[in-house]
Amino acid sequence: MVTDKTLGFIGAGNMGEALLKGLLNTKAARPEQILVSARRPERVQELVRAYGVRGGENGDVARDADVVVLCVKPQILDQILRGISADVSREKLIVSIAAGVPIAAIERRLHPPMRIVRAMPNTPATVGAAATALALGEHATEADLATARTIFDSVGLTVLLEESQLDAVTGLSGSGPAYLFLIIEALADAGVKVGLSRRASMQLAAQTVLGSAKLLIE
Ligand SMILES: NC(=O)c1ccc[n+]([C@@H]2O[C@H](COP(=O)([O-])OP(=O)(O)OC[C@H]3O[C@@H](n4cnc5c(N)ncnc54)[C@H](OP(=O)(O)O)[C@@H]3O)[C@@H](O)[C@H]2O)c1
Repeated sequence: MVTDKTLGFIGAGNMGEALLKGLLNTKAARPEQILVSARRPERVQELVRAYGVRGGENGDVARDADVVVLCVKPQILDQILRGISADVSREKLIVSIAAGVPIAAIERRLHPPMRIVRAMPNTPATVGAAATALALGEHATEADLATARTIFDSVGLTVLLEESQLDAVTGLSGSGPAYLFLIIEALADAGVKVGLSRRASMQLAAQTVLGSAKLLIE
């Protein structure tokens, strides 16, 4: 789906960049609809140069975006929310990807009632193959769900769950890639032990996991 909204990313590290890249690659949004802020001005400039998006401070992003996507680490989210609360009006949709931070904690720092969607993507978002779970806050609407789906569908598969299930998702698909890397490494090690080169072994092991998942899904 294509969005006509302005999307503001507060925090643009691995996940923030993956999401804005996904939106642009799938043409779900145009560069001028995307605003970004980060801790370091040079990081913002890097993204502005690479993707043609608009850069600013956290307050600018919160004020100018229709949808504020919170992509900072969970431990600083509270501080970020306090910093932007004066710039976040009730009309905004807030989307948070901060692991483990409940919707209620976000809403408390802003101006209840607020429309909030919590998302739990995973690192394959960086290659457009994420598994993301979404949960809606009490005041979020069907239109908000559609907007959130537009963002996360642009980097992979999206499912809708209850917020109470998101910790389980963090354990499954959030942490899942780390377990799969271990399995791939173990398979590759076994290949090396029986005479394959490390490179061929890694290629075969990784492609086997990819292909098996594809087979299961299809
Ligand atoms: N990685 C995952 O698999 C994954 C999965 C699900 C959810 N998440 C969630 O995604 C969020 C981001 O994770 P990440 O892996 O993308 O982290 P990251 O790469 O460290 O990115 C964090 C971003 O926050 C920015 N930042 C730090 N302090 C800031 C401030 N005061 N104001 C504005 N921006 C600030 C950083 O700016 P600089 O670049 O200038 O330092 C950086 O761009 C976390 O809450 C995490 O729980 C991650």
